[in-house]
Amino acid sequence: LSVLSVASEAVPLVKTGGLADVAGALPAAVAAHGVDMTTFLPAYPAVGKAMGRKRVAHEWDSLLGHKARLLSGKIGAHKLLVLDCPTFFARDGGPYSDSKGQDWADNWHRFAAFSRAAADIASGRVKGAKFDLVHAHDWQAAMAIAYLKLASDAPELPAVMTIHNMAFQGYHDAGIFPRLGLPQSAWSVDGVESYGGVGFLKAGMQLADVITTVSPSYAAEIRQPQFGMGLEGLVALRGDRVRGILNGIDPAVWNPKIDSDIAASYDHRSLAMRKANKRAIEKEFGLEKGDGPIFTVVSRLTWQKGMDVLVEVLDHLVGIGGRLALLGSGDKAIEAALQEAAARHPGRIAIRIGYDEALSHQLQAGADAILVPSRFEPCGLTQLYGLAYGCVPVVARTGGLADTVIDANPAALAQGVATGVQFDGVHYHALRSAIDRAMVLYAQPKQWRDIQQNGMKADFSWDASGRAYADLYRELTGKAA
Ligand code: ADP
Ligand code: GLC
Repeated sequence: LSVLSVASEAVPLVKTGGLADVAGALPAAVAAHGVDMTTFLPAYPAVGKAMGRKRVAHEWDSLLGHKARLLSGKIGAHKLLVLDCPTFFARDGGPYSDSKGQDWADNWHRFAAFSRAAADIASGRVKGAKFDLVHAHDWQAAMAIAYLKLASDAPELPAVMTIHNMAFQGYHDAGIFPRLGLPQSAWSVDGVESYGGVGFLKAGMQLADVITTVSPSYAAEIRQPQFGMGLEGLVALRGDRVRGILNGIDPAVWNPKIDSDIAASYDHRSLAMRKANKRAIEKEFGLEKGDGPIFTVVSRLTWQKGMDVLVEVLDHLVGIGGRLALLGSGDKAIEAALQEAAARHPGRIAIRIGYDEALSHQLQAGADAILVPSRFEPCGLTQLYGLAYGCVPVVARTGGLADTVIDANPAALAQGVATGVQFDGVHYHALRSAIDRAMVLYAQPKQWRDIQQNGMKADFSWDASGRAYADLYRELTGKAA
């Protein structure tokens, strides 16, 4: 059973967020269940460089108006195809925006072309390529499903649309429609039209055989306007085709026993070794030494992530004896407010603005608790890394956060199953009392250690989810693996 996974980022080649972790881990996760997955990515400069040996598998004279080539190679042990189209992808800056953080104005064109190419590959227009199913991730890949299902000579190929974040829909002005190269009939509410414009994610959701989200709770939440962001009606309409499959984490990358980025390796039996990692964090961030807890945050600094509420609560966090080491970047106003808090509390609050993969591992290994006060969270990975590293997650009860953390309420503590702290509603008082609860738990070392160990022993590997995707592919193709 061979599947084309279409994604705009994947580790270890290109990453701006959790989508890359998931797209990077999926091939191995499903391979264990008999699925042969090929990943299709745009050839951003970093991808081309990191790819190593490659071969030209196909050429387009005009892919939505531009010359392009398909290169084939490997990503680790797995098959990789990349779309080499210099007009669209040979640019400095990020995958979606320039170096100043401004979205590229032609993103619709870049990702429509990428999706068109994906449909060509999947439907057998590219010699040597043959697939049983297309799996598209997020709006950047969603139009692959539109090109597959709406073209007049469309093959009978099943398609899965995975929503990693409903907040990003790839919504564009109706004026682009004639340039997409779709038949006129695609301009309909059953096709790509959405609120008078072209909705890339909407089209994928409309036309996919199955829609998945990255946690069961989020699959239920997006039926409500607050989370569905305009597409809740479509979600409800296709309700029997919507499934939630929780993300896993890659134990080869996120495992404190073998992590080469951290000062001292450890497992749930040698938690005392974490001390060396805590000292390393104090040093790296210029925090006062101490036995009180260090909280960490590793995040995009945005409204989704509740970072504005975090800012409000920092004086209190310091007032009750906490310290904070934060790594992130994003919203300039939030960055500035965090810097101000750090200036008010030298030695207690330290902020690193930027993106640093190794440091994110060190923080999980050395901090005592990770704060994830997201307003919505389709799955969330940093709380899973926290669980694996004994860095106790303190999370808002939403989406994947609700599905993966067991709140240390009296019943869970009595039964010895708690793994973190959850709170309801992302506002000052809720976050403040969650931090208070974490402080109280931390002050009882035996209880805290139990919570850490429960999290570390829990299984968030890809095994169960890899099987769930493989089962879904089988159900849709009618093929045994
Ligand atoms: P999202 O994809 O919505 O940003 P996730 O929790 O799913 O949220 O994934 C975020 C990923 O990006 C995690 O792997 C996290 O460790 C990583 N990350 C976020 N910000 C940074 C940063 N500043 N430096 C290093 N890694 C980061
Ligand atoms: C998105 C979501 C995040 C999820 C990630 C990977 O970026 O915001 O919650 O973990 O995708 O699926």
